[in-house]
Amino acid sequence: MIDVVSVASEAHPLIKTGGLADVTGALPAALAAHDVTVRTLLPGYPAVMGALEGGRVVAEMPDFFGGFGRLLAGRGGGLDIIAIDAPHLYDRPGNPYVGPDRKDWPDNWKRFAGLSFAAYEIGRGLLENYRPDVLHCHDWQAGLTPAYVAFNAPTRAKTVMTVHNIAFQGRYEWSIFNDLRIDFRAAQENAIEYFGGIGFLKAGLQTADALTTVSPTYALEIKGPAYGMGLEGLLQVRAEHLTGILNGIDIHEWDPMTDLKLVQHYSHNSIEQRAGNRQALAQRFGLDDAPGPMFSVVSRLTWQKGLDMLVEVADDLVAAGGKLIVLGSGDAEIENGLAGAAMRHPGKVGFVRGYDEPLSHLIQGGADVMLVPSRFEPCGLTQLYGLRYGCVPLVSRVGGLADTVIDANEAAVEAGVATGIVFAPATVEALREAIRRTARLYGRDKVWRKMQRRGMKSDVSWELSAEKYAKLYRRLLGMNENADSND
Ligand code: ADP
Ligand code: GLC
Repeated sequence: MIDVVSVASEAHPLIKTGGLADVTGALPAALAAHDVTVRTLLPGYPAVMGALEGGRVVAEMPDFFGGFGRLLAGRGGGLDIIAIDAPHLYDRPGNPYVGPDRKDWPDNWKRFAGLSFAAYEIGRGLLENYRPDVLHCHDWQAGLTPAYVAFNAPTRAKTVMTVHNIAFQGRYEWSIFNDLRIDFRAAQENAIEYFGGIGFLKAGLQTADALTTVSPTYALEIKGPAYGMGLEGLLQVRAEHLTGILNGIDIHEWDPMTDLKLVQHYSHNSIEQRAGNRQALAQRFGLDDAPGPMFSVVSRLTWQKGLDMLVEVADDLVAAGGKLIVLGSGDAEIENGLAGAAMRHPGKVGFVRGYDEPLSHLIQGGADVMLVPSRFEPCGLTQLYGLRYGCVPLVSRVGGLADTVIDANEAAVEAGVATGIVFAPATVEALREAIRRTARLYGRDKVWRKMQRRGMKSDVSWELSAEKYAKLYRRLLGMNENADSND
């Protein structure tokens, strides 16, 4: 049995702003099948404290980054949770990172140094009768944990640093150094210094025993300047420690045969039943019932996701006979652009601004196409939900999108292996052409249906990838395993 602390700033269904939460929420159950027990360390935001069942105090930290802190252990959202109850840092409603003004909380460095430090303390044996083998750190918010382990008193726990998105790095002024409680050697050995300041993700990438990211292609991409966002040099140096392990999805929560958020259930043998969901969607988004493919987006509306390009091609999409529905929020310019497109094309384009988990399921279960035209995409989950739900993904050929969707070129269509439409490069012109190509494919009923069915049958579960994480833990711990697998 291997004991792992998953150190994360979000976990579905307790607190979620994106795919990170889906991963940290679903991976523990998948790892259980491989003799790995996971406890999830989370900041005690109101949503976490409120969901904690049977919480009991397992440690006190009287001087915890400017106030009193304690650790509570309990169940929550199907997970074994250790919550950091430190109201001066985490007792704030809403989004975990930004205040009501949509700006980062000014003390985020302290909030997530706290998360990282608590993980390190647990690794050192802070909890009675609990000695984790591995501290699995997710994204920059947990990036200091491996640095504490490397420079403060040693632990026997190994550290894994997983990059979900290298665009978010946790960069701060050097002046916070003295308040981080990290040994001075961290400064001397250049481990946390980053362009004159401090980099939380950099610290983790420099010091963790193993590095992973969430798809094989992204693992290659971030070693180069086009995607490495300044960290490519360090990743080249540590390349032998870096692997890409593809995300899976929770196939029980996301199952079109049982999903309670759908109007109509269906399987790959009854895809025509999706019509009920499609109709409900058309109503919700104010679309007319003229024929033609219904393109959809469920996303943060940001430059990463390429949705400014979608604004530019919305008119062409409608001209190609398509309709478009978008659920999301983010950059004001993209929001305004989409609202404008909806005004120009009543009955053809619908935009719901906001975050709505149940509606996201209905979209996957009813729309024809899941559009993900990202400029970069570490893994991406919405295309995986799309595959599982027969909502054919149209994606750019980057990161995990390239690793999960098989393009419907004629050879792939002929061979019956296509699962979606893949385009490159991520430009307005290529997106426009991909939308036209998709509309043409949609017109070929049999081909389209086959593609949907093929997607629905593809394995998007956690099974294979959970095994890879389990193997990685075992390798780090020097545990025997039938050595060379070919991954
Ligand atoms: P990222 O983490 O970069 O935002 P992913 O594709 O990995 O991208 O994960 C996004 C997750 O957030 C998915 O579960 C998606 O369904 C969900 N999501 C994004 N925007 C919304 C929204 N507006 N309403 C509901 N769910 C959303
Ligand atoms: C990040 C990435 C996304 C990935 C998710 C979960 O938010 O942007 O591509 O799927 O993390 O790993």
